[in-house]
Amino acid sequence: MCGIVGYIGERQAQSILLNCLHRLEYRGYDSCGIAVGSDVEVYKDVVRVKVLEKTSPSLTGVIGIGHTRWATHGEPSQVNAHPHCDCTGKIAVVHNGVINNFQKLRQQLTSEGHNFISETDTEVIPHLIEKYYDGDLEKAVETALREVDGSYAIIVLMAGEPKLVAARKDSPLIIGVGDRENFIASDVPAILNYTSRVIYLEDDDIGVVTTESIKVRRDGAEVNRKEHKILWSVKDAQKAGYEHFMLKEIHEQPKVIRDTISGYVSMAEPIADLALLGDAGLEDMLILACGTSYHAALIGKYIIEELIRIPVRAELASEFNYWGQTSARSRTIVITQSGETADALKAMKRLKGEGCRVVAITNVVGSTASRIADQIVYTRAGPEISVAATKSFIAQLMALYWLTLPYSKIDIRRLDSLVTGLRQLPSKVQQVLDNEAVISECAKQLSKYQDVFFISRGINFPVALEGALKLKEISYIHAEGYAAGELKHGPFALLGSDTPVVAIVAQDNTYEAMLTNIKEIKARRSPVIAVVEEGDEEVGELVDSVISVPQVDAIFSPVINTVVMQLLAYYTAKQRGCPIDFPRNLAKSVTVE
Ligand code: F6R
Repeated sequence: MCGIVGYIGERQAQSILLNCLHRLEYRGYDSCGIAVGSDVEVYKDVVRVKVLEKTSPSLTGVIGIGHTRWATHGEPSQVNAHPHCDCTGKIAVVHNGVINNFQKLRQQLTSEGHNFISETDTEVIPHLIEKYYDGDLEKAVETALREVDGSYAIIVLMAGEPKLVAARKDSPLIIGVGDRENFIASDVPAILNYTSRVIYLEDDDIGVVTTESIKVRRDGAEVNRKEHKILWSVKDAQKAGYEHFMLKEIHEQPKVIRDTISGYVSMAEPIADLALLGDAGLEDMLILACGTSYHAALIGKYIIEELIRIPVRAELASEFNYWGQTSARSRTIVITQSGETADALKAMKRLKGEGCRVVAITNVVGSTASRIADQIVYTRAGPEISVAATKSFIAQLMALYWLTLPYSKIDIRRLDSLVTGLRQLPSKVQQVLDNEAVISECAKQLSKYQDVFFISRGINFPVALEGALKLKEISYIHAEGYAAGELKHGPFALLGSDTPVVAIVAQDNTYEAMLTNIKEIKARRSPVIAVVEEGDEEVGELVDSVISVPQVDAIFSPVINTVVMQLLAYYTAKQRGCPIDFPRNLAKSVTVE
């Protein structure tokens, strides 16, 4: 999950590449590098792009490639940073993905006289291209890639060749169409400053890009790939005055809810045909996802079980890929913000291979998930730049509500009231945002500790998991999300005045049990911050701090409570001076298993 970019045109490439790399840093940022000009001058280092911008010498040329890295093979180091070159230094390659058989290829190439200097899997690619080059770069790339087993998006620059050659397999790659200039990148936001005209490459495509032409080949023959117009603007991918993308994205959520729902027309028109197998009706459902999207899947389980009253399994895609039964009759949903997460894509391929029909909920038009799925439900979160998912998660919940409601077995009065409740959510979320100061005060308290528990029950249990995930990923505080009833089965041993607990208390059938759990925790002297509905008078008596949230139907409480979790994590991380948008060791789009 690195970010790659290429430019060819009439302008100097260096500053354009660096500008694009800034916008790709969400994919990885432990080191970065560029190769520029017809002499293939390479500059790379273990620094962020903004530092490379200052330290790199001026490289002349109107053609170039760039890379921002999330290390898989070999630690972040100057020598492991991309671009990587062949023996002659004339062929440079940037790569996103993983080459599974690189050891074997490396041994073979070494025995043939090739000299390797890095620990990366990528380095075999320029050497293979060197081996097969006989005057035709595209052919050499094509032949080289036939030997490669794994996932890749690559861009190749060769000295003296006025073109870039790009190829993809199981890793995203787009071509940006300009006027007497063209771009290649891992993702759309990278090039939005320059063009909104985009061609999505497909697996096994080879793109040959010059200043004036774009050709896509497959199995030696030219193929036609449609050009798309991107509706996001550069502004959508900028901070708009906020200190961090994460804060901006949290604040965009009322709009995201409105946009996502308004895209879904009416209740009478389901956004996806869940009864894909017709007569059989809906019997059960399987939802797969990773990370934050998995928490949306877990909430989806509660929503669907309550509204459609069928059993639902929500599973981690990364586990499901090695275990778990399916049946061709199962309705399956895969949730992936980026549409590029390797574990989620592998699960989708497995499901399809086993005859299941798959609905994908994704935020990225043209993503790999959208191309594999039988049906796509797009969320309308807009580009999410901060590594920590926020608005995309809320948009996923909106999709799950809207997907479920047309099939619900609840009476019409409740259905009407839920649709009304859904439409009121933007203003309810706004009320949470308006209460930011109180949440930020609680965050100041949390920032002093090393371990935090997040607890809840029922439909808010996944919100506790999400609260813990957000806190650990951006503030580096160890946090655990727990079902409130489970703490006494072991974790109680860790409670005490040094271990605060954030308790999410919903007004549903779990309320009384939550009160009991909070009393048990207070008896062990842990500080407790409780998230409660406005008007609640009981919880405040028991705990140290209270964050009040607006009243909503309990089924929507995860939306409201998650926004509190996001702000709590954000202000805790800010208090600790953490690099909020780009936490260490992480990347936004996890394209490796
Ligand atoms: C956490 C986060 C990750 C992603 C996970 C899945 O804040 O963003 O846990 O949710 O990597 O990503 P997608 O949804 O793109 O499949």
